[in-house]
Amino acid sequence: MPNESLTITDNRTGKTYEIPIQDGTIRTMDLRQIRKDESDFGLMGYDPAFMNTASCRSAITFIDGDQGILRYRGYPVNELAEQATWMETAYLILKGELPTAAELEEWESSIKKHTFVHENLRDYLKGFRYDAHPMGVLVSTVGALSTFYPEAKEVLNPDLRRRQITRLIAKIPTLAAWAYRHSRGHPFVYPDPDLSYSANFLRMLKMNQSNYVPHPDVVRALDVLFILHADHEQNCSTNVMRSIGSSQADPYSAIAGSIAALYGPLHGGANEAVLRMLQQIGSKDKVPEFVKAVKDGSAGTRLMGFGHRVYKNYDPRAKVIKGLAEKVFAVVGRKNPLLDVALELERIALEDPYFVQRKLYPNVDFYSGLIYEALEIPVEMYTVMFAIPRTVGWLAQWEEMLTDKEQKIARPRQIYTGYDLRSYKPISSR
Ligand code: ACO
Repeated sequence: MPNESLTITDNRTGKTYEIPIQDGTIRTMDLRQIRKDESDFGLMGYDPAFMNTASCRSAITFIDGDQGILRYRGYPVNELAEQATWMETAYLILKGELPTAAELEEWESSIKKHTFVHENLRDYLKGFRYDAHPMGVLVSTVGALSTFYPEAKEVLNPDLRRRQITRLIAKIPTLAAWAYRHSRGHPFVYPDPDLSYSANFLRMLKMNQSNYVPHPDVVRALDVLFILHADHEQNCSTNVMRSIGSSQADPYSAIAGSIAALYGPLHGGANEAVLRMLQQIGSKDKVPEFVKAVKDGSAGTRLMGFGHRVYKNYDPRAKVIKGLAEKVFAVVGRKNPLLDVALELERIALEDPYFVQRKLYPNVDFYSGLIYEALEIPVEMYTVMFAIPRTVGWLAQWEEMLTDKEQKIARPRQIYTGYDLRSYKPISSR
């Protein structure tokens, strides 16, 4: 009898089963043999929202939610945020190792080569209403890219996969900036391949500010934000990427789905919701009243930017972002007055038994909006700012899923709760 196993006795039948344990998990398929009788389908696991189910093996991101640890390919995220560039981090996440100088140069130049989008996309973008939310526009335009690259359907071809990965990472800042410029009625700005990834994005976004040249510290701050948002293992939008990708759909369609998942206020949409919440609170003295209303349900909202499915101690990204906010305020020469509201909210919530007992701490979205605001990036762009770097994580997970022999089309089971067999009744007798 192996030591690493679980003995299960089915009290319905008195039978005992030996289920192997590997990597702290049992395979729920091993439960299928546990049956009441020959006609029984077999035991299943029931886990709505995947609270305790591992859906894959992954070598990309490690999180220890109790200790507040986040690592990409083994490297602590705070070390990367301090020392690595965004392009180095993207390479690391996708390929598993930090690049050499030559590899980095080749990687950066291949990204720069692909930043332009097909001119037809300009016309497509113009079809949106003037007030279209940039996230809605991004979902559509990224999905539309699949029609320009029909060979992207060949997802089992590693070379073609690599080409779509490069295209997506290169083009998403262009589409993101254009989505915003359309909403303002500003002319589209074409990419500048001489600039870095972050500097080029800022320029495309803000070119109407005459002679706009992004400050190097602002570019670095954006690089750090991109590093912190690049991957987060099996979160909602990544699960969507893997799920759509498992049907062998092309990566543009799959990423459009992931962006849609990210849009929700319980996921990436929280950064926009945090800023709106801070604006609604307005001043420091209103914080206790707001926290009380959150707790008794009368605020009609949760405390946005607080809580996390995995982190039950602190979110290491929030720590780095809080420090970064101070640096950005120093560079731009003004402190966002909402920072005081945020700090007070954090202070009160961290002392309040409601939040302490539920292990609710500030997450990545709590302070990121304040930095975007200081960089004069409009609120409706906040979740777009998250989607740009997360594209790297989604693609790394997609590649890993497609090359994992254990993966198949994702298809959960259900517990049917509807009617038993019924016979059709003609409309006259209903
Ligand atoms: N404010 C107030 N109460 C909260 C909050 C919050 N932000 N988050 C959780 N709770 C409470 C719940 O009401 C619940 O209380 P109960 O046990 O009395 O019913 C308890 O804490 C547990 O909450 P769940 O919803 O079960 O926790 P879950 O792990 O499913 O949710 C989530 C995690 C969605 C992030 C949640 O904490 C939340 O809604 N936070 C606000 C939105 C947010 O900031 N999302 C961004 C997450 S980070 C990211 O996706 C990039």
